[in-house]
Amino acid sequence: MHVAIIGGTGHIGGYLTPMLVESGYQVTCVSRGVKKPYRDHAAWKSIAYAHLDRDVEERTGSFGENVAKIGAEAVIDLTCYHPSSATQLVEGLRGRVGHLIHCGTIWIHGHSTIVPTTEDVPRHPFGDYGIRKSTIETYLVKQAKETGFPVTLLHPGHLVGTGWAPINPCGNFNPEVFSALKNGDEIRIPNFGMETVHHIHCEDVAQAFLLALKQRDAGLGQSFHIVSESALTLRGYAEQMGEWFGKPAHMKLLLWDEWKQGFTEKEVATTEDHMRHSPNCSIEKARGLLGYKPRYTSLQAVQESVTWLMQNGIV
Ligand SMILES: NC(=O)c1ccc[n+]([C@@H]2O[C@H](COP(=O)([O-])OP(=O)(O)OC[C@H]3O[C@@H](n4cnc5c(N)ncnc54)[C@H](OP(=O)(O)O)[C@@H]3O)[C@@H](O)[C@H]2O)c1
Repeated sequence: MHVAIIGGTGHIGGYLTPMLVESGYQVTCVSRGVKKPYRDHAAWKSIAYAHLDRDVEERTGSFGENVAKIGAEAVIDLTCYHPSSATQLVEGLRGRVGHLIHCGTIWIHGHSTIVPTTEDVPRHPFGDYGIRKSTIETYLVKQAKETGFPVTLLHPGHLVGTGWAPINPCGNFNPEVFSALKNGDEIRIPNFGMETVHHIHCEDVAQAFLLALKQRDAGLGQSFHIVSESALTLRGYAEQMGEWFGKPAHMKLLLWDEWKQGFTEKEVATTEDHMRHSPNCSIEKARGLLGYKPRYTSLQAVQESVTWLMQNGIV
């Protein structure tokens, strides 16, 4: 089967594109050809590339049509951030592909209510990104219901893999937090440290896309969370990482306004966004309908990534 993967050289694509090749799919990667994949793999030489700039092509209205012209039976869209992007792709592909698998995010939920959050609860998204991704989800599910458009939606948590820093126990991307834990130095945790983060190793995201491809009919018109087995509290995350480094985590719990003073504006905004969402999502639906079984726990995924950060002198 021929699969076109839009954004196939990024965090998810770095695992998914090689996995598709190893599973026998003919693969065409749609990207600008600017980004070097995070991981080396023989697959990068065996796939076809369609160099399209989505932003430019969407402005002229040709992106959906040009993806359809690739002639793939299935399309995986990893880079849909605007409702208008989803509309253009659907209109271009309608009647011309057998399956579109869209990459969403658990940010579609906004804050959690009853946890673990299931896919069927009402959405309360906030923030520009979460609202746009939720609007896209509503549109795609409606297209499936009302027009029979063959789409499946996968919603990952915080992406983890080798080659970049994962969300840390302070809820942002500053790798110095891991360095402090490694050295037994104090780290500043906001509030009581009971807000949560929900990671996912990109190999498990890739596994889920493959399962959705193989079990097309089970996933049509459906949304699935793709996260690790369990979310982590920030303080529990710090404690477990301290244990892994062989140094008890030396944590200072600080009220939000006081905590903010130790970080940059961007880090504060990232932490605030993660704390306000405090995701904790269920994987029961993906497990039941797709047979999804994550290989990595959140901590295993983070520890593999931090090992890479240490090997590269970042931590
Ligand atoms: N980051 C997270 O923790 C997180 C969490 C949940 C969900 N998500 C979702 O995951 C998806 C993003 O996946 P990712 O992090 O794997 O992506 P990514 O690492 O940002 O990769 C971007 C990919 O898109 C290509 N690309 C970028 N700009 C392009 C353009 N203008 N035209 C064509 N191709 C372009 C890049 O290649 P070139 O640069 O060579 O073009 C690359 O292949 C999104 O749908 C996001 O909502 C992310």
